[in-house]
Amino acid sequence: MTAVVAHEPPAPATQPMPEVILRTRGLTKWFGARLAVEDLDLEVRRGDVFALLGPNGSGKTTTLRMALGLVWPTSGEISFFGQQFAGAWRQTVLRRIGAVVEQPTFYPYLTARENLAGAATFAGLRSSPATQARIQWALEQVGLAPRAGDAYRKYSLGMKQRLGIAAALLTDPELVILDEPTNGLDPAGISEVRALIARLAQRGVTVLLSSHLLHEVQQVCTRVAIIQQGRLISQGNVVELLSASRGVLFGFTQSDGAHRAAEALHRAQLHWAPHASYIHADPLSPGGWQLLVSAPQERAADLNALLVGAGVIPAEVRRYEASLEHYFLALTGGGPQTSMAPAYSLSAPDAPDATPTTFDAPTVATQGGQV
Ligand SMILES: Nc1ncnc2c1ncn2[C@@H]1O[C@H](COP(=O)(O)OP(=O)(O)OP(=O)(O)O)[C@@H](O)[C@H]1O
Ligand SMILES: [Mg+2]
Repeated sequence: MTAVVAHEPPAPATQPMPEVILRTRGLTKWFGARLAVEDLDLEVRRGDVFALLGPNGSGKTTTLRMALGLVWPTSGEISFFGQQFAGAWRQTVLRRIGAVVEQPTFYPYLTARENLAGAATFAGLRSSPATQARIQWALEQVGLAPRAGDAYRKYSLGMKQRLGIAAALLTDPELVILDEPTNGLDPAGISEVRALIARLAQRGVTVLLSSHLLHEVQQVCTRVAIIQQGRLISQGNVVELLSASRGVLFGFTQSDGAHRAAEALHRAQLHWAPHASYIHADPLSPGGWQLLVSAPQERAADLNALLVGAGVIPAEVRRYEASLEHYFLALTGGGPQTSMAPAYSLSAPDAPDATPTTFDAPTVATQGGQV
């Protein structure tokens, strides 16, 4: 018989907080009488793939341009690597950053490689074998090495976009800033750019990008700031932001199914299922009357058994993960009621909202990814 020796589990290593690479405080920009960015506090940490998300005109590009010193803030502070972005430090910082914010200008009749050689000179790299190797490396990173001898004018939109990113990588930056890197790309182009961002992150490069397409960046970003009309409405770790809207989703064919289910769960007083919310009603699809229960997903079968025992038979039971898009809509009230707005308190009989409320009028879930 083998003796089993129990060891104390090692004490959990305390994770030091990653260095804050970019911090803005109260960043504000007026264009004449138009307030484009208002009192913005952002924090991009080393290792983040940080997405600045918001609808068209919400101030994303203006924020990135201020961070790069291309536009002067009306008020507020910007610091990089812990030091205020001013004076001589600005030049030092800009050498440590690669950015594609404006449409990069390349010469149409020069090849991609020649254009990058020009960009390298402009970035202060000497013409040398090391620089040539660097250009080749950047071309490989963005998957353009096989087409490096083609004239820029022969490039597709996606290839032009990737050449811009290659130019931003020439100086081996610690932070790469990309404004709408997937803009105008087809699904294959979008997934290539996403894969490129993931590769950069794996190499330890911090990425700050902007997008108005939440679903496109959700898979690749680790932290997000959501802005609307220039104001920050949420900032944080993607997994943490969305964890509150994870749960078990029940679909019912009858309009009163979700309501009766909520009542049955309320009576059961399950401490591990504290609230439930109405997701959306689509009476045309089977199981279209939906209730999201905030319970651990592995309890789905227990919840189902309880409901069936109470005579409420769901047509559908599945695990539910909210998307950033749902999260955004819930925060801004721009869509149907979602999991972010608990409609039913199931386990707090003394709470004022303990009694299940009635459903709102049926609404149709917003599809598509644009905010
Ligand atoms: N140079 C400028 N002069 C005047 N107004 C400007 C200027 N640049 C931006 N704005 C205004 O500031 C607001 C924010 O614009 P910005 O380009 O930062 O938004 P965005 O979030 O990047 O939008 P999009 O998703 O369309 O790129 C808009 O109302 C825009 O019209
Ligand atoms: Mg923009």
